[in-house]
Amino acid sequence: MSEHIQIERHGAVKVIRMNRPDKKNALTRTMYAAMSKAIIDSDSDPDIRANVFFGVPGAFSSGNDLQDFMAFATTGQMGTEVIDFLVAVANAKKPLLAGVDGLAIGVGSTLQLHCDLSFATPQSYFKTPFVDLGLVPEAASSLLGPALMGQQRAFAFLAMGDGLNAVEAKEAGLIYRLVETDELEATVLKAATEIAAKPPQAMQIARDLLRMPRQETIDRIHLEAKLFAERLQSDEARAAFMAFLSRKKG
Ligand code: COA
Repeated sequence: MSEHIQIERHGAVKVIRMNRPDKKNALTRTMYAAMSKAIIDSDSDPDIRANVFFGVPGAFSSGNDLQDFMAFATTGQMGTEVIDFLVAVANAKKPLLAGVDGLAIGVGSTLQLHCDLSFATPQSYFKTPFVDLGLVPEAASSLLGPALMGQQRAFAFLAMGDGLNAVEAKEAGLIYRLVETDELEATVLKAATEIAAKPPQAMQIARDLLRMPRQETIDRIHLEAKLFAERLQSDEARAAFMAFLSRKKG
């Protein structure tokens, strides 16, 4: 479905690998669609008991493709791929894990709020430059962020765009554990396999309880998305996208 999203199976674990290294794993609409399908397929597949997100060395994801944002800012045609992905993740029935190495920008960061276990290498870096781009937080991060890390740290991270290095991200609760680079994938797969070996019904109920109230999360995703779509067409956002997309031409 997308050459930039690779789906792998490791026993009862599904790996969703973002693989667009030349753009630091900037996520296109096609990539979001492929990842949504992977999550939704897992939900209805009894043979899958956990999902894992991986990026490429040095880049988990640089966030939404700014070219796509620019296209929306000029045409008004956004599509539903991003919101469908966020809702699929927030509604996921099976545990979600992530292995982060390097950049985790925008949704690369906020995705961790929906993961049950995230592992990161020491050189990982988390940042959400929403406001600097003329935008607002997404993926229910305005709800889940303050609940996780406290109001002020969430403000610094999600509104001011202050980045978190790997140690700070762990302190903030955004990731579970730091792992050396050469051990990242094996560690995440081991954790996912351990989860997959547990009684699946009890695991699902436990996870549902821990994720409650999900409807509030979904409602926040939709509220943020409405405001985000309005902001995408603002002069502030357009100027920020232009500045990024033209920075190497000057
Ligand atoms: N959307 C589109 N393209 C992106 C991108 C994004 N979010 N992030 C990186 N790229 C592209 C760059 O344009 C560049 O493409 P080019 O080689 O064709 O010029 C390529 O990926 C490599 O990025 P580059 O900027 O050269 O690497 P870097 O290591 O110097 O910086 C980032 C990496 C991620 C810090 C920087 O690219 C960046 O700030 N990207 C934007 C992040 C962002 O704002 N995301 C949206 C969050 S809501």
